Amino acid sequence: MITVKKLRFTYPGASQEVLTGMDFHVGRSEIFGFLGPSGAGKSTAQKILTGILKGYAGSVHVLGDEVRRKKRDYYERIGVVMEVPNLYGKLTAMENLRYFASLYQAPCGDAAALMERLELAQDINTRVSGYSKGMKMRLNFIRAIQHRPDVLFLDEPTAGLDPARSRIIKDMILEQKASGVTVLLTTHDMHLAEDLCDRVAFIVDGSIRLLDTPINLRLRAGERRVRYTWQEKTRHEAETPLKSLKDDAQFLRLMKERRLETLHTQEPSLEDLFIQETGRRLT
Ligand SMILES: Nc1ncnc2c1ncn2[C@@H]1O[C@H](COP(=O)(O)OP(=O)(O)O)[C@@H](O)[C@H]1O
Ligand SMILES: [Mg+2]
Repeated sequence: MITVKKLRFTYPGASQEVLTGMDFHVGRSEIFGFLGPSGAGKSTAQKILTGILKGYAGSVHVLGDEVRRKKRDYYERIGVVMEVPNLYGKLTAMENLRYFASLYQAPCGDAAALMERLELAQDINTRVSGYSKGMKMRLNFIRAIQHRPDVLFLDEPTAGLDPARSRIIKDMILEQKASGVTVLLTTHDMHLAEDLCDRVAFIVDGSIRLLDTPINLRLRAGERRVRYTWQEKTRHEAETPLKSLKDDAQFLRLMKERRLETLHTQEPSLEDLFIQETGRRLT
């Protein structure tokens, strides 16, 4: 659905290249994650794939066509959540959705039902200028999916949302995948990437440093360790590799004497691996 080869890009007038050679492929019904710190070039890449930024080098195929030669119906077939919601403040939420729906040939989904799902039913007739940032984010998500696109580009779709609302958006992204939609998800949130993505690309300085499934990435991230505590006059704590736990004499003794108080595995996170592989933090 998406094939990108040797993608390079420099903003007009800038001296530094922002995308320095990106290659990746996204298959049908796949959720592909772009994970990287601020300034890595994620939004720039999305803007090129969605045809907003022109003048790139390399090749970018979405739905079979090179994006620089995209046909008029391209925007019928893709849905886009940009970093900053693009909605009309003077129109109500429903008027916004109706207006955007009118731009498409295909019939759109039930806007009122989508508003209800995203807990905006109360504010359906409120002008968007009166919406909070989080409400705009949710409305913008509806705008992106209401025409039932084949490919979704989502740039930080849950930024600034509380956990409950993020959960709704996450569920809806998984439902899109289940109905055959291909998703490119851009984020600097490792939990979002891990929960949703089939594969994750680590983006640093405009290129992909590492690309794999979240599980494989986690397995790369160093050894798992076990931390345990026990009482012996005072509280003690020790850590040992999970692999060699069975050879830890102290641990075995404490088990036998039933002195163990707590026992936890220390899982390396995607962020730990990100730092290990790129020398950068995600935030
Ligand atoms: N319109 C622009 N003109 C010039 N430079 C830009 C513009 N937009 C972004 N940049 C620069 O491009 C780099 C990548 O930005 P961006 O794609 O927004 O990164 P990310 O989405 O990963 O945070 C940054 O160094 C940023 O300053
Ligand atoms: Mg960005």
